Amino acid sequence: MFKALILGAAAGGGLPQWNCGCENCNLARDGKIPASTQSSLAVTTDGVSWVILNASPDIRAQLAANPALHPRSLRDTPIAGVLLTNGDIDHVAGLLSLREQQPFALYATGEIHGVLADNPLMQAVDPARVPRVAIALNQPVPLLPGLTATLFAVPGKVPLYLEGETVQTDLEGEQTTGVHLQAEGRNIFYIPGCAAVTDRLAERLRGADMVFFDGTLWRDDEMITMGLSQKTGRRMGHISMSGSDGSIAALRDLGIGRKIYVHMNNSNPVLRPDASERAEAESAGWTIGQDGMEITA
Ligand code: MLT
Ligand code: MN
Ligand code: ZN
Repeated sequence: MFKALILGAAAGGGLPQWNCGCENCNLARDGKIPASTQSSLAVTTDGVSWVILNASPDIRAQLAANPALHPRSLRDTPIAGVLLTNGDIDHVAGLLSLREQQPFALYATGEIHGVLADNPLMQAVDPARVPRVAIALNQPVPLLPGLTATLFAVPGKVPLYLEGETVQTDLEGEQTTGVHLQAEGRNIFYIPGCAAVTDRLAERLRGADMVFFDGTLWRDDEMITMGLSQKTGRRMGHISMSGSDGSIAALRDLGIGRKIYVHMNNSNPVLRPDASERAEAESAGWTIGQDGMEITA
């Protein structure tokens, strides 16, 4: 059995974002479309022990909202480990909420562990209780009984807070990774941040049973045209859904069993159930991820 539970389907900021008065954020505040917490996925093979993929700033509320992740005794957690795919704030800040002297394994590449080690705040998550397990790229490691994870490089950039004067947005190295999960012969991919689908990435995903993929923006310039930001998706290290170089086109003919968008920015029109963009994504075989959604492979 493999089960994934979407803890948070939104990109950094969530839906609604605290300082955003865009249409989607206002609809979510009014309860007219579902609100969403920040990017995180929980996975299990037995429904008992879980690994959390990315620790979002909303993790406290996410754990409270999902009974499978509650303690079963006086001091306890079903969470055996946390795996980080990059060092972005929306994927690591939740570690600070897990600082209560509870043992679990913390998996990431050596480079991401280096970013955490450089930040004194992260020492609050005591390395004596929470061992830092460095995962080499392209090397399968056991995460849970019957579940292995292989991290691989996807095009991306360093975290926003480490950007210098110039930023390379299609770096391929240890700073932005995807996860290949293997359970009982099933191949599941989790790629919440990705700047482009290279031929190599497309070949990796061919024939997968399930892919959770970066759904940050619908259009590369949507934050600019909405007056929210000066940044394109490309500049943020995120491929868009639409267009000839978008993820819908890139993953269309790869024979993937189930395609699920995660890490949606609050500007993305697919967050509105009645939007034509959502119908377009769904008719191309995509599911728009939502908090609390459970998917079994
Ligand atoms: C991203 O996905 O681009 C980052 O989470 C942005 C951020 O750190 O706010
Ligand atoms: Mn993010
Ligand atoms: Zn907004």
